[in-house]
Amino acid sequence: MSKSKALLVSLIVAVALVASASFAMAKPIKIKFSHVVAENTPKGQMANKFKQLIDERLDGKVIVQVFPNSQLFGDNKVLEAMLLGDVHLAAPSLSKFKKYTKSLQIYDLPFLFTDMNAVERFQKGPEGQKLLTSIKSKGLIGLGYLHNGLKQLSASSPLRVPADAKNKKFRIMSSDVLAAQFEAVGAMPLKKPFSEVFTLLQTKAIDGQENTWSNIFSKKFFEVQPFITETNHGVLDYLVITSTEFWTGLPDDLRPRIKKALDEAIAFGNKVAAQKAIDDRQKIIDSRRTKVLELTAAERQLWVNAMKPVWKQFEDQIGKNYIDAAIKSN
Ligand code: SIN
Repeated sequence: MSKSKALLVSLIVAVALVASASFAMAKPIKIKFSHVVAENTPKGQMANKFKQLIDERLDGKVIVQVFPNSQLFGDNKVLEAMLLGDVHLAAPSLSKFKKYTKSLQIYDLPFLFTDMNAVERFQKGPEGQKLLTSIKSKGLIGLGYLHNGLKQLSASSPLRVPADAKNKKFRIMSSDVLAAQFEAVGAMPLKKPFSEVFTLLQTKAIDGQENTWSNIFSKKFFEVQPFITETNHGVLDYLVITSTEFWTGLPDDLRPRIKKALDEAIAFGNKVAAQKAIDDRQKIIDSRRTKVLELTAAERQLWVNAMKPVWKQFEDQIGKNYIDAAIKSN
């Protein structure tokens, strides 16, 4: 080969290399993270922390886009969208997986966990870890649990004893256990998306709802609900999920780094959750827009007695082994 021909060949090779390198750089992996809550919530802050860690550590090879407030998908659609590849990360409430597994319904059993430490112990144990992968056969992988906190009951009239809830309409997440829980006190449960709750309360289409202090505060439910009863009757926790197809399709060198950032973001979100359960409760009390009712031990016991039969009702669907392990975690 003549000298000038060799020069031309190496020039072409160099140009091709530069072009393919810039093509690779121009095509970062996009992770769309969709959720339904406000940014100033445990989940909102966890998602933003994940984005921040990826931005800092992965040199633009991965771009995270966070869509809060049901901007991209509501919880009713997000799992289907994930299986279609339209969204890659989400953290729906554990109450929203009924279509995919019955075992996760355990988290909806009323008065099962005494506090969030018990939830944490259960999740770290073998049964909790097994539940993380309980939707694998449906093409979804649980990457971790994220906390929000214990739920309270808000209503248009004071709720002190179960009879106060009789014939009242309560919005619930799409869970049959939650429906049974309200039916157990003679109330009427309505499955509605989170994005509709404020308007339903404001227009008095429903009488009440159940949620955590941070959701009641960030979505301003306390401004349209004159009473909140501090029941701590159930847990609102999340499963951080992705699709098997997306997760296994990630480059092997990036997947562990993405997982590490996610684990750190979840740990951060859990700290935010613990703090918000205290701070947002106080902000709601200080607002004087609503009255927070504390139950006596005897009043609370009436709610426990009325709702606890739901455990037996769902024992076969959930699995007794899971329920026993949850009780032990207390
Ligand atoms: C959420 O915290 O993600 C929403 C909970 C709800 O639907 O009530």
